[in-house]
Amino acid sequence: MLRVGFVGWRGMVGSVLLQRMRAEGDLEGLEVRFLSTSNAGGEAPAGGVSGVLGDALDVRQLRRFDVVLTCQGGGYTSGMHERLRGEGWNGFWIDAASTLRLRPDATLILDPVNGDRIRRNLRTGCRNFIGANCTVSLLLMAISGLYREGLVEWVSTMTYQAVSGAGARKLSELTRQLRHLSLPGRDLTSLTSLEAEQAVTEVQRSGSLPSTEIGAPLACSVLPWIDRAMDDGQTREEWKASVEATRLLGADPPVKIDGTCVRVDALRCHSQALCIKLGREVPLSDVHDMLRSGNPWVRIVENTKEATLSRLTPAAVGGKLEVPVGRIRRLQFGPLFVGAFTVGDQLLWGAAEPLRRMLEILREHRN
Ligand code: HSE
Repeated sequence: MLRVGFVGWRGMVGSVLLQRMRAEGDLEGLEVRFLSTSNAGGEAPAGGVSGVLGDALDVRQLRRFDVVLTCQGGGYTSGMHERLRGEGWNGFWIDAASTLRLRPDATLILDPVNGDRIRRNLRTGCRNFIGANCTVSLLLMAISGLYREGLVEWVSTMTYQAVSGAGARKLSELTRQLRHLSLPGRDLTSLTSLEAEQAVTEVQRSGSLPSTEIGAPLACSVLPWIDRAMDDGQTREEWKASVEATRLLGADPPVKIDGTCVRVDALRCHSQALCIKLGREVPLSDVHDMLRSGNPWVRIVENTKEATLSRLTPAAVGGKLEVPVGRIRRLQFGPLFVGAFTVGDQLLWGAAEPLRRMLEILREHRN
C-alpha cells in the first residue's frame, strides 16, 4: 500500500479533501499518516494508520513516505520540498499550493482534462504533481471539450470568484462583514428600499466593517482585483489563466485566455462569464455536444430563465462535483463568437478533487 503523509488536513482545502477521501473510501486503500507542523504528538483524525500526529517538519519522518500530500500552503512547500529532495527522497509530492506549479519538473493535475499527460509524465519519472489555480481548473473542466476539438481561438473570461478562494480567514471576515451590514438593533425591513440601500452604503463607507483580511468591504459589493499586480496591468490571477491553462493542456502555441478577475461575496463557488472565439463556425448544437463530451461532470443548462436560476448559480452548485455550463448562445459579434456562463465548486474541482484523484492514479501506477 502507498504510504502517504498528509499535511494541512485541518485547513479549508485539507478538510474538504479529507471529507472526499472518507466519502470515497480512499483511506482504506492507503496507509495515511496525518502530520502537523504545530501539534506533532497530538491526536490524529480517524482513518489514519496512527492515532498520533506525526511531525510534518521532520525530514527523517517525511522520507519514509511514498507520497507527501500537502494542503498546508506555499510557506510549507518552500520550506520542505527542496530539503526533502536534497536528502535524496524520490517519492511523490502532491500539492495544492502554487509554489511549484511552473517548475519544469512538475505536472499540473486535473485528470479529467489532462489524465493522459499526467500518466505519461508519471511513467517518465515526474515526481511533483501540483493542483492548478482553481479558476483555471474550473474553466477547463467546463470547456475542455472545445479545446479537445481544437475549436477555441481565444477566451475572454470575466470571473465572479468566491471568497473561499482567498482562504479561510477571509471567508470568516466576510461573515463578520455580513453580520455588521445587517445593522444590529435596526430593522432594515422596516425601511423603504432606498433607505435600506442608503443605510447599508453608509456602513460600507464608514470604515467600521472588519476588513483587515480582505482589505475592503466585500459584503454586498464586488472587488475587481485578485492577487498582486503584474507589469502589464493584469493581476496575477488574470496572468495565471493563460499560463497555467497552457501548461495544463501542454499547448503549443500558448492558449489565449484573458479577462478581469473579480471577487464577489459568494462563499465557495467561482462563476465565469465567457466570450469564446471559435476557430471555425459550427452549429450551436455541436458546441453543446462537444462541451458535454469534455468530461462526465459537465452539465449543459438550457438557456432559459428557469433552468439558469435553478441550476447555474453558486447557491445551486456549492458542494457538488457537477460543472454546469449555461447561457450558451451565439453572441451578436458574429458567427464565431459564443457566450457561456459556468459555475464550479472552488474547493472541489478547484482544489481538493484533483489531489485525491492523483492518489488513485498513483495507486494504479503502482499495481
Ligand atoms: N486564486 C484563487 C482565488 C484561489 O483567489 O480565488 C484558487 O486558486
